[in-house]
Amino acid sequence: MFEDLKNQFFSELSQVSSNEDINNLRIKYLGKKGEVQKLMKKIKEIPPEQRKEYGKHVNELKKEIEEAIKNKMEEIKKLEKQKAFERMWVDVTLPGARRKLGHNHPVMKIWREMEDIFVSLGYEVVEGPDIEDTWHNFDALNTPEWHPARDEHDSFYFDDNHLLRTHTSPVQIRTMLKKKPPLAIISPGRVYRRDYDATHLPVFHQCEGLYVDKRVTVGHLKFTLEEFARRMFGENTEIRLRPSFFPFTEPSFEVDVYLEGYGWLEILGAGMVDPEVFKNVGYDPEEWSGFAFGMGIDRIAMLKYGITDIREFIKNDVRFLRSY
Ligand code: DAH
Repeated sequence: MFEDLKNQFFSELSQVSSNEDINNLRIKYLGKKGEVQKLMKKIKEIPPEQRKEYGKHVNELKKEIEEAIKNKMEEIKKLEKQKAFERMWVDVTLPGARRKLGHNHPVMKIWREMEDIFVSLGYEVVEGPDIEDTWHNFDALNTPEWHPARDEHDSFYFDDNHLLRTHTSPVQIRTMLKKKPPLAIISPGRVYRRDYDATHLPVFHQCEGLYVDKRVTVGHLKFTLEEFARRMFGENTEIRLRPSFFPFTEPSFEVDVYLEGYGWLEILGAGMVDPEVFKNVGYDPEEWSGFAFGMGIDRIAMLKYGITDIREFIKNDVRFLRSY
């Protein structure tokens, strides 16, 4: 009888793992209506000569149970403490939770880099409006009626005389109308054309450059662009000038850079400012000369970062943007 109860108690005790469990177990065995008390009450049924022996057994069992419960309670207390400690524990050697910092868009990075390069060469950064009139965008730049950029198929018009600028070149005109030479400016900004494929976006970015002084030569132009290419793409970068045509320069050139792994790549248009353009802004072409250039910022960002589809720039996939 005692053995059975004892075995039952210890098997139940072994299942106990919380304060609540052990309390319930204590009440079940040691409470006023508990198992041990029940045994105590049975003493009346025991023959008198065996009562002493019986009482001794019950007391021993009671003591054993009390002892076991006390030990278990201490064990549980320790365990809870341990758990609480583990919850509070901080590993100060772990790296901190890094906040993700924003950064410039790859196009904006190149834009800023260009500004830094030309500012360090003595150029001033100026800006012009995105909405232009046809005179600043075309006529003053000696761009005739038949020029394809003037066509509605190629440009975004508001009315006959206003459009989203198709290049940053009108900023040349605005600058020369405001300032007397000599001058050296660049003008980065958004430009707009009706184009959309892997290498063309309807909204993209150009950086215009204009240098006006006395006796400016193609040599000055070449030196400047070579210096730019070397700072942008690396110290030993070669450039070459190929003859081309723009209405606002004479002579005109396409300028290529040689990039390892790519070969010769066209990065900009340039030339000596056409005397007609000087006349349109009231500069005397006999006295003043200059060069101008225009380059695609997105295109240079693509080359520099090895991006093959310009549309990546406007998807705003942060995984893509974060990698630059
Ligand atoms: N405006 C030209 C374009 O959008 C780029 C350009 C070429 C600008 C030659 C210039 C220049 O200032 O001299 O294609």
